[in-house]
Amino acid sequence: MMRKLVCRVSAVAPGENKGFLVPGIDVPVMVTNIGGTLYATTSMCPHEEVSLLGGRVDGARVVCPGHAYEFDVTTGRCPFDPELELFQYKTTIVDDLLYIELA
Ligand code: FES
Repeated sequence: MMRKLVCRVSAVAPGENKGFLVPGIDVPVMVTNIGGTLYATTSMCPHEEVSLLGGRVDGARVVCPGHAYEFDVTTGRCPFDPELELFQYKTTIVDDLLYIELA
């Protein structure tokens, strides 16, 4: 396991998502704040590789700007297409810093 720093916990407000470049990962890590809990996923839509950054947050879901598919960032699931899954990172918070754990 390798731990990589993503951002300060306070960097993403509830109902917001933001992308962060993490060394060694090609696609920005998307951090979404759902009711005060941060979820880290890839920012690349698994449908047709459009960036989810800037996608509207609706409840626990982020809406893809590409074709408006929704992805639940707490589970990675897409209610429109069960075959699609948004890659989720394991997270750890130490002090005010959010880290992801890489295998
Ligand atoms: S690219 Fe995201 S829904 Fe099609």
